[in-house]
Amino acid sequence: MKKLAVLSGAGISKESGLSTFRDSDGLWENYSAQEVASIEGWYRNKALMLKFYNERRRQIEHTEPNAAHKILAQMEKDWDIDIITQNIDNLHERAGSTKVIHLHGLITQARGENHENTIYDIGYKDIHLGDLAPTGDQLRPHIVWFGEAVPMIEPAIRIVEKADILLVVGTSLNVYPAAGLIQYITPGTPIYLVDPTAMNLHYAHYTQIQDVATKGVAKFAEMVAPLASKSSK
Ligand code: APR
Repeated sequence: MKKLAVLSGAGISKESGLSTFRDSDGLWENYSAQEVASIEGWYRNKALMLKFYNERRRQIEHTEPNAAHKILAQMEKDWDIDIITQNIDNLHERAGSTKVIHLHGLITQARGENHENTIYDIGYKDIHLGDLAPTGDQLRPHIVWFGEAVPMIEPAIRIVEKADILLVVGTSLNVYPAAGLIQYITPGTPIYLVDPTAMNLHYAHYTQIQDVATKGVAKFAEMVAPLASKSSK
């Protein structure tokens, strides 16, 4: 099957009811990213950051995948799809996608603050100051904060390099290294971008579907259906 790489951002989860970050009603309108999503913020006020992510986790627990997540999951029958998401929600997985890389971590995972590679599934449980990981240190969300490395960027680059098509959906492409993934496509690879905001990427084979994710991803699936090759590549 042909390889479809998907780079998704907060916009794909907007119609599920989750806020984006940089839209006018986005999270960074009400919170300072430096205060609640950076490693400096963690050492300044752990309780505030734990509260911020407890709120996100509770909201995500009561949120459902939307049609955009579901269509991408259904496309796995005709495409070898890898989802590379910047989102910390688990909506791609809950829609049925089986290959998902979380560049910025996953809200249902946690780890000791001094053990970034020993990760625990905590579901939707709150984390409080004083909750210790089995490694004996303060438990923290397994989220990549501003100022921290993005360990999954290498596997994500490998995926983009091998893609036959790249779909970018619901991201302002403001944050690196995620936004830089696009430059790893092999020349001539078509890029499709689903976003209601006009965005002009300077690539030869670039198509923007200027719509919300639920409609734009449906249009994308229709447009590329003829390109899916049933034969194994
Ligand atoms: N459907 C599709 N796209 C949408 C929709 C929608 N219904 N509504 C908004 N968008 C688009 C916006 O136009 C914007 O381009 O989604 C994008 C959201 O951009 P951001 O809010 O910047 O979110 P994102 O790109 O995911 O942010 C990247 O920044 O703060 C960090 O770690 C955080 O992972 C996040 C990263």
